[in-house]
Amino acid sequence: MNPINMSGNLPPLVPHVFDDIYRAAIAQVLDEGSPNSLIGAHQFCGSERDRTAGSRFAALRLPEIPSEDRVVVANGTQSILSMLLHSLVGKGGCLAIEALSYPTMRQFADIFAFRLSAIPMDSEGIEPEAFESMCRKDAPSAYYALPTLQNPTTAIMSMERRQAVAEICRRYNVAIIEDDIYSLLPRDIPPPLSSFAPELSWYILGTAKSMAAALKVAYLVAPKAEDVPKLFWPGVRATYWMCAPINAAVASRLIEGDGATCIIDAVRTETRERQALIAACFTGADLRTMPECLHVWLHLPEERPAEKFVELVGSLGVNISPSATYAFGNRTPPNAIRFGTGTARDRATFQRGLDTIIQAYNC
Ligand SMILES: Cc1ncc(COP(=O)(O)O)c(C=O)c1O
Repeated sequence: MNPINMSGNLPPLVPHVFDDIYRAAIAQVLDEGSPNSLIGAHQFCGSERDRTAGSRFAALRLPEIPSEDRVVVANGTQSILSMLLHSLVGKGGCLAIEALSYPTMRQFADIFAFRLSAIPMDSEGIEPEAFESMCRKDAPSAYYALPTLQNPTTAIMSMERRQAVAEICRRYNVAIIEDDIYSLLPRDIPPPLSSFAPELSWYILGTAKSMAAALKVAYLVAPKAEDVPKLFWPGVRATYWMCAPINAAVASRLIEGDGATCIIDAVRTETRERQALIAACFTGADLRTMPECLHVWLHLPEERPAEKFVELVGSLGVNISPSATYAFGNRTPPNAIRFGTGTARDRATFQRGLDTIIQAYNC
């Protein structure tokens, strides 16, 4: 039998809602005009309609609707990150990063030959004092921020912490690259870090964690409209980051109607159901997550090293990841593992995976 993948943190499939909405959006795009006109030429940062839809989507989080000339439509968050990191940090530069963070940032550092400087964290995310002393020492040009349902720790920065971190970025002229990809599932969370220092902030809101992992549409809001051509088009002639027009158009139709919100609601509901199973079965463990979170951060007792625990769970047919996967800098990561709530294809498979993790935890 194939192992159950609980190492990824994709959103759960919700075909009972997604399929009809998505089919209708594609049909609408194809009915509205000539497919050849749509895909016959590059659309650069996105058509005006797609950038407008992107600005509406970003306004699900930002305090106001950004003007569409600040918006770039791209084929995923990673593409936006690669363009930003290349320009804002670049060869020999320094990127500030949370001590536990999105592992792909290591690949970007290798490709673009920049240094990573890890910032110690507490239960809310980065510690302001540590961040400030790192800014003095390493002079990072940008900070890659995951302030909401942080990957992997699930931390959410409070308003006060966001304010303090934004002030430090201002004082040391550090650009904020905010990846807000997990923010559309929870309710009642603070506004993006970017709203505390908009003049420094490159705000990214992808669809991969709220609608579908391979939708391959993400939106960037640049600090100013003039910044867009400098980093994207026509200032930079690379095209690999551009969104296929059909994908961008379908996402726009979803956002213009209520399709996107219905899909997000369904993903949220399924995530809550799965989280309820976790809460019911996992009692007494040092576990960090919330009902709308796509991953769980589980601390293990010292006598059960994370790597060995992951090996044991793997031998029982379930893939999960140890804290070392996410660790930056030279501090020893906490003895913890991360598992995803959405990647298992259905709830029954998820329950089997969860039972296996619990069995391993209790033995
Ligand atoms: C923090 C974070 N950002 C971005 C991505 C990927 O986004 P995309 O598929 O849009 O490139 C992931 C996927 O795991 C992620 O965890």
